[in-house]
Amino acid sequence: MAVSVLPDVADATEFPLPWNGKDRSRYVRLDLSEALVTPPDNVVEALSSLAASTGFTSYPNETAFYSSLSQYTAVPERNLLLTNGSDHAIQIVMRAFVGSGDSVLTSAPTFPMYAHIATTLGAEAKEVPLTTDMEFDVDAYLENVSDRVRLLVIVNPNNPTGTRVQLDDIEKILQAHPNRPVLVDEAYFEYSGETASGLLPDYANLIILRSFSKAFGLAGLRLGYVISHSDIVSELKKLRQPFDVNSFALVAAAEHLKNPAHMHHYVEEVMERSKPLVESSLRAKGICVFPSSGNFLLARMKHRDRIVKGLREQGVLVAPQRHPMIADSMRIGIGPIKIMTDFMAMLDRMIGDECNPPRAT
Ligand SMILES: Cc1ncc(COP(=O)(O)O)c(C=O)c1O
Repeated sequence: MAVSVLPDVADATEFPLPWNGKDRSRYVRLDLSEALVTPPDNVVEALSSLAASTGFTSYPNETAFYSSLSQYTAVPERNLLLTNGSDHAIQIVMRAFVGSGDSVLTSAPTFPMYAHIATTLGAEAKEVPLTTDMEFDVDAYLENVSDRVRLLVIVNPNNPTGTRVQLDDIEKILQAHPNRPVLVDEAYFEYSGETASGLLPDYANLIILRSFSKAFGLAGLRLGYVISHSDIVSELKKLRQPFDVNSFALVAAAEHLKNPAHMHHYVEEVMERSKPLVESSLRAKGICVFPSSGNFLLARMKHRDRIVKGLREQGVLVAPQRHPMIADSMRIGIGPIKIMTDFMAMLDRMIGDECNPPRAT
C-alpha cells in the first residue's frame, strides 16, 4: 500500500459477517435475531409519503423525534442521544472513553462488536467468562476490573447466550466503580422487559444503549440511541455528525412509537408462544438450551455443523458460534409461531436422520 494507516487500524481485522455475500432475503432469517414481521400500515404509509416528498433530497432533522423517544423511554430529552444503529453508539462510547493500551471489560461469550471496536482503537477486550451454565457471575466480573479497564460492558440480555443480568448486579458494579463508565447494552430490552434506566438518577456513570433493530424490526434503517447522564450525552454528541441518522429511520420509528401495540403483540407472540415451543421441543430431544431473555436461543448440539448446513440447504439461516466456549452451539432467532413450528418440524427430520443414519446397501 502506498500510504500507511494508523498501526491500530492496520492491526485490526474486518468485522466478520455470517453468510457474507449471500442474499439473505431468500432465506428464513433466524441468524441475526431480526424481527420477522411486516411493518404496521402506518409505518409503510409514512415511509411512502416521505419518499414522495422530501425524504431523499432533504437533510434529516432529528429534533421532533426526541420528544417521542423521551415519552417512550420515560427519560428526559437531555439524557438521550440518537445514533445510526446501536453499533454506532458502541463506537461513539468507546471512542469517548477508551484509547490505545486500555482495556474494555466484557463477559464471554458476548456480542463481538465490543472486542472488534476495541481493537480498532488499540485497546483490548478483557473477557470474563460466564459460568458453565452461561450465567453472569458478578464477583468474577468485579475481580477483573484492573487499572487498565476504562469501560465496563454488560450486555443484558447477553447476546448470544440470552443471559439475564440481575439489576442488583448492575447496581453493584455501578456502585463499586463510580468513576468508570458502565455501559449496559439493552438492544433486546423490548423482549426482556427489564431496564437499568431506573438507576439513571443515582448513577452518573451509567450508559444504556438501545436499538430499533430488534423488536421494532427496523434493522435495515439503522436507528439506536444512548440513555445516560446529560454530561455524558453532551460529550458523546461531539463524536456524532449532524446527519448520522436518516429521515426514513426517524419517520418509521416515530410511527412505531405512535402505535407500539404492533411491537408489543409481536414480542408477546415471540416470547410467550414461539420461544417456549422451541425451547421445550429442543429439550425434549436432549438438546441443551440455555435460558434466554432475548428473542433467540443458544442451542448446544453434537453435530452442529451438519445441522447448520442442512438447515441452510433447506432455506433457513441460523448462527453457528465461533467463541471457544460455545464452538458447538448455534443461536436460533425466534420469530412468529408459524415459522418456528415449521422450523422445529424441519429440525425434527434432521435430528431423526442423525439418529438413524441411512444404511449402506
Ligand atoms: C447486544 C447487541 N448490541 C448491539 C447490536 C447492534 O444492533 P444495531 O446496530 O442494529 O442497533 C446488536 C446486534 O445484533 C446486539 O446483539
